[in-house]
Amino acid sequence: MDFVLSSLNVLKVKADVLVVGFFKGQKYSGVVKSINDSLGDALKNISEEERFEGDVGKSIMLSSTFGKIGCKRVLIVGLGEKTDFSALTLKKIGNLVIKKVKGLSSVIAFTPEFCNGPGHISALAEGLLLGSYGFDKYKTNNSGNNEVEKVIFASNKVKESTLKDETEFARVISESTNLARDLVNEPPVYLTPSKLAEVASEVAEEGNLKCEIFDYAEIERRGLNGLMAVSSGSEEPPRFIHLTYEPPRKSKKSIAVVGKGITFDSGGLCLKPADSMRTMKMDMGGSAVVLGVMKAIAVLKPSIKVHGLIASSENMTGPKAYKPDDVIRAYNGKTIEVINTDAEGRVVLSDALSYAVELKVDEIVDLATLTGACMVGLGSYTAGIMGNDQKLIDKIRNASDSVGEKTWQLPMDDELRVEISSNVADIKNAGSRMGGAITAAMFLENFVGDIPWAHIDIAGPAFLEKDSNWNPKGGTGFGVRTIIKYITGK
Ligand code: BES
Ligand code: MN
Ligand code: ZN
Repeated sequence: MDFVLSSLNVLKVKADVLVVGFFKGQKYSGVVKSINDSLGDALKNISEEERFEGDVGKSIMLSSTFGKIGCKRVLIVGLGEKTDFSALTLKKIGNLVIKKVKGLSSVIAFTPEFCNGPGHISALAEGLLLGSYGFDKYKTNNSGNNEVEKVIFASNKVKESTLKDETEFARVISESTNLARDLVNEPPVYLTPSKLAEVASEVAEEGNLKCEIFDYAEIERRGLNGLMAVSSGSEEPPRFIHLTYEPPRKSKKSIAVVGKGITFDSGGLCLKPADSMRTMKMDMGGSAVVLGVMKAIAVLKPSIKVHGLIASSENMTGPKAYKPDDVIRAYNGKTIEVINTDAEGRVVLSDALSYAVELKVDEIVDLATLTGACMVGLGSYTAGIMGNDQKLIDKIRNASDSVGEKTWQLPMDDELRVEISSNVADIKNAGSRMGGAITAAMFLENFVGDIPWAHIDIAGPAFLEKDSNWNPKGGTGFGVRTIIKYITGK
């Protein structure tokens, strides 16, 4: 997708579709009026006919302009209330527009009001690029779709350098988000822990990051016993992945971003029923976010040191599988009583978090498709956030709000803590069903020492069963944008 500026009058710009924005209750003035006039009131008539009022997410396609203006069609899109309008609205619009013009157009143009503020072109381009995502590599006939090749911003106010900077940033964001989406969408037969490690080393090589990968023997030698235990039911060997980004100028501040990388979660001996097992290829969603973030960080070059840590395994049944009643000594020496082998994410994360503590980082953020309970509580579009440091949680919530990824904090209610106290070990890996997202976070808390830590449970938003206006079905890459925003401020 190429992005270009045109200083021509919008009526003269040539494209397959001209996108016209419309605020709620807006008068026909300026550009909208001139287009409407040229089309003999067609915009006005069709809007009335279709009861279009300018809500975000609503649009109408005028499928011919009969040669009266340069563009062949007009797509009117709602921009919502003028007072609510922001770059985020434009990101949504970008996603929506791509869906509406799909198959019709290789060149689309936007009227000047789409590029009126700083960050607007970037947000719109991000939406367009993310909206074009599809995962069809396993479909035999996957060509046909004519994609949008060129996007014209009709404006004589925007500088070439602004266009370049903003669209390049949008590309970084969408490429890293789409990497995370691809990894989640890949079937588990392809995306094994070893494959994930290969992808990680490619990301590292491309971005000049330090990359350490521990194989089975190294994981065993180091005593990453949680990861060992979970992987023991599988033929696929586990991997522990550590990428490091060093800022151009030495910095004291460092952060670890930690991801759950279960490439398939069958539940292990506590086997999931068939309906719950389906979609469990997404159980490496947290690790996909880590790789997406590291890919972007390598280009955006923030001034702090960033560690990306992934504990990756399958969770399978097998003659050597770990069992309920087993006791595991985690990497930090704490003992874990296994209550349920399906609560495996927290077991592998116990090692990855302890490892982060050893790196003496200033902050730890983990992302994990950790609990069904979090989805029950918050639905499929909102991640749960918990932790031991309210300031860090607030900062991440602010970042997520500003980029349009929804997070909501759940309380670390001390009365619930007894749920995971064990008779035989330091801690149990599962409590009752009640407050399951919270007790999972409380389990993790045992492995972060006193380092400020936030845990993001992305079980819901990492993977969507159906398309929505601004999210694809399948892997979403949820979390990539929030963590990039948090780390880089951009
Ligand atoms: N990977 C699942 C959580 C999950 C469920 C993610 C649905 C996305 C969609 C996790 O490993 C799991 O199985 N959790 C159990 C924990 C329970 C056994 C304490 C759960 O949520 O049921
Ligand atoms: Mn599980
Ligand atoms: Zn899992």
